[in-house]
Amino acid sequence: MNKTIVLDKRPIGKPKMSDFKITDQEMPKEGAGELLLKTTYISVDPYLRGRMSDAKSYIDPFKLNEPISSGIVAEVISSTNDQYSKGDFVSGMLAWKEYQTASANAVYKVDGDKAPLSAYLGILGMTGLTAYLGLHQIGAPKKGETLVVSGAAGAVGSVVGQIGKILGLRVVGIAGTDEKVAMLKEDFGFDEGINYNTTENMAKAIADACPQGVDIYFDNVGGEISDGVLLNINRFARMVICGAISLYNETQMPVGPRVQPFLVKNSALMQGFIVSNYADKFPEAIAQLASWLGEGKLTYKETIVDGFENTPQAFMDLFVGKNKGKMIVKV
Ligand SMILES: NC(=O)c1ccc[n+]([C@@H]2O[C@H](COP(=O)([O-])OP(=O)(O)OC[C@H]3O[C@@H](n4cnc5c(N)ncnc54)[C@H](OP(=O)(O)O)[C@@H]3O)[C@@H](O)[C@H]2O)c1
Repeated sequence: MNKTIVLDKRPIGKPKMSDFKITDQEMPKEGAGELLLKTTYISVDPYLRGRMSDAKSYIDPFKLNEPISSGIVAEVISSTNDQYSKGDFVSGMLAWKEYQTASANAVYKVDGDKAPLSAYLGILGMTGLTAYLGLHQIGAPKKGETLVVSGAAGAVGSVVGQIGKILGLRVVGIAGTDEKVAMLKEDFGFDEGINYNTTENMAKAIADACPQGVDIYFDNVGGEISDGVLLNINRFARMVICGAISLYNETQMPVGPRVQPFLVKNSALMQGFIVSNYADKFPEAIAQLASWLGEGKLTYKETIVDGFENTPQAFMDLFVGKNKGKMIVKV
């Protein structure tokens, strides 16, 4: 049989195991021009939380009792399409199923000889692109500036900080444990790290870590951490609003300081974005990330969870920071 994970209930607050259901479905058979795929790696991502709610967003909600989907790397088991052969590996937005069929234009080939297959879900995939394009397109980094990154030990944040260092910025990362803060400095080359769980006054901690103020804030978490950064922005600062994981499970939106006076006083920019806004720039971004990886200027971490049925738990663990770098499930 073919194990499949469906959304059983829309989560209220923090997602729970009972919001998901593992079902057995029929083995699929590929139609003309299609591929039969066996899932190898599944990406779990914070944004999936938004798709589990039925609120209006930039992407449709998941349907109840239907499989959840996310970035997946899969092996071609059989193919009726000339472009693909048995044994090829592909990536695409696919369903949380052990086996599935896909049309050839819904996936693209990935090369396990060029990079580990899991990397196509992280550093050479959506999160690497988000880091590179968000920082460049909105952050407009200039050598010597100060960059603060929240969610710094995660998939996007750890890459943003390293790119900041490559570009000659002072980089300060915010993460949830001392171990992660040490990793930011020792493994990723950040200049300073702040553990938000042991910091009582975030605004002061940022001021201490950023004596020249904050020119760019790459925000992955929102909420009180970001309030503390806002109090330290420089004139013409750019705030790259990538994500707000601290708020995704809130049932009532907390209200923080009103941002307008800070933006006016500092002629500052605060801009949200979705990585797909910059789809035309994906090839150049991937080429640059791959080249920095090859030169050893960029590195990455992954937290790999074993077992298809552990996919919902791996997803839920993002909200308690169990991952370092990209959270991925190996099937
Ligand atoms: N705009 C886009 O196109 C786009 C694309 C990809 C991702 N994103 C967003 O970027 C952010 C990072 O995504 P990712 O895939 O790289 O995930 P990630 O950072 O690898 O994993 C999530 C991390 O968030 C931290 N976290 C969890 N709850 C938190 C809280 N209440 N307060 C502060 N930190 C918390 C945890 O680290 P700690 O241990 O440090 O708490 C956890 O490891 C997310 O907000 C995501 O939605 C946006």
